[in-house]
Amino acid sequence: MTILLNPGPVVLSERVRQALLKPDLCHREQEFIDLQNKIRNNLLEVYQLPAEKWTGIVFTGSGTSAMEAMMTSLIPAHGKVLIIENGVYGERLTKIAKIYDIDHVVLHHEWGEEIDLQKLEGELQYHEELSHVAVVHHETTTGRLNNIDAIAKLCKKHNNVPILLDGVSSFAAEEIKFEDWNIAACAATANKCCHAVPGTSFVITNREAMQQMSATPARTLYLDLVTYSKNQDNNGTPFTQSIQTFYALAEALDELKDNGGWQARQKQYWNRMNIVRDGLEKLNIKPLFNKENCSCVLNAFHLPEGLSYETLHDKLKAAGFVIYAGQGGLANSLFRISCMGEISESDMERFIDEMGKIVNT
Ligand SMILES: Cc1ncc(COP(=O)(O)O)c(C=O)c1O
Repeated sequence: MTILLNPGPVVLSERVRQALLKPDLCHREQEFIDLQNKIRNNLLEVYQLPAEKWTGIVFTGSGTSAMEAMMTSLIPAHGKVLIIENGVYGERLTKIAKIYDIDHVVLHHEWGEEIDLQKLEGELQYHEELSHVAVVHHETTTGRLNNIDAIAKLCKKHNNVPILLDGVSSFAAEEIKFEDWNIAACAATANKCCHAVPGTSFVITNREAMQQMSATPARTLYLDLVTYSKNQDNNGTPFTQSIQTFYALAEALDELKDNGGWQARQKQYWNRMNIVRDGLEKLNIKPLFNKENCSCVLNAFHLPEGLSYETLHDKLKAAGFVIYAGQGGLANSLFRISCMGEISESDMERFIDEMGKIVNT
């Protein structure tokens, strides 16, 4: 079996794989509504969010659709968002704002740079009119876990600006303080830390924020969260959902709960990642960041001198491991390793053995 060390899709557990084979369903029948409601409830349970205050909206699409739904559905027509960039996905939030003509300002950083809190405070002070701050939690471009605690404190200090969080590669494995951080919405996906299959995404939003958007005209037909939320609260769905991927997500969320929730998953990922970091260190392969700045989900490493990514990738693939390239300008200098999915610590040890064979020949 190939071990996927890319940041999703992940190696599935047998339990989740079998769930894909459950009976065919019509999305207008009660059985589907039960499935959808189960997912919505279980999504809130991951971070123990009360249903009176929060709602999980689930729909068909990849992580980007959740980002796009969040940005288009939570920022009112007269709103303005400050987008913090320090990687591909922060920049993608800006692309979405541009495409939909959403009023925005950008706090740009180079990929991987730590978010400059002084500059952020300056922007928050200067732009008193801001309705939201949008930021990526775990910037998968480099593995940096952005310091949302510090960002949220500044947002609170300046007009209590709510946060739109891209939690696509952190939801279910990193701490997300929905209340403390004054989150208006968090976008995420089934096929990363939730351990289900690609095809289903979701946004968890504050009900009050959703309610306020009812008065604003929709910017999009298919990704409008107000439409989804009204339909799903009334035991319906506006469009045909990807039923088999819903089955998988429902099972994966049960499995997450049975296995000890996001806290246990975070610990498990770190146990795996520590094997990778320590093993690569012994081979003189350096991580991009110290552990304190990294997510447990994915870490980036410098390519050893004289070894191209393609050669490393192909040799590892032949040995049964799929790794991930650096993006854009980082393609020739970095490779990335993710610890998600139904893999084991001994898989990570075997991976290090294979790395040793490649590096030492
Ligand atoms: C932080 C983050 N946001 C958004 C996305 C986009 O997700 P997708 O490729 O599923 O559309 C990714 C994908 O890796 C991601 O890591």
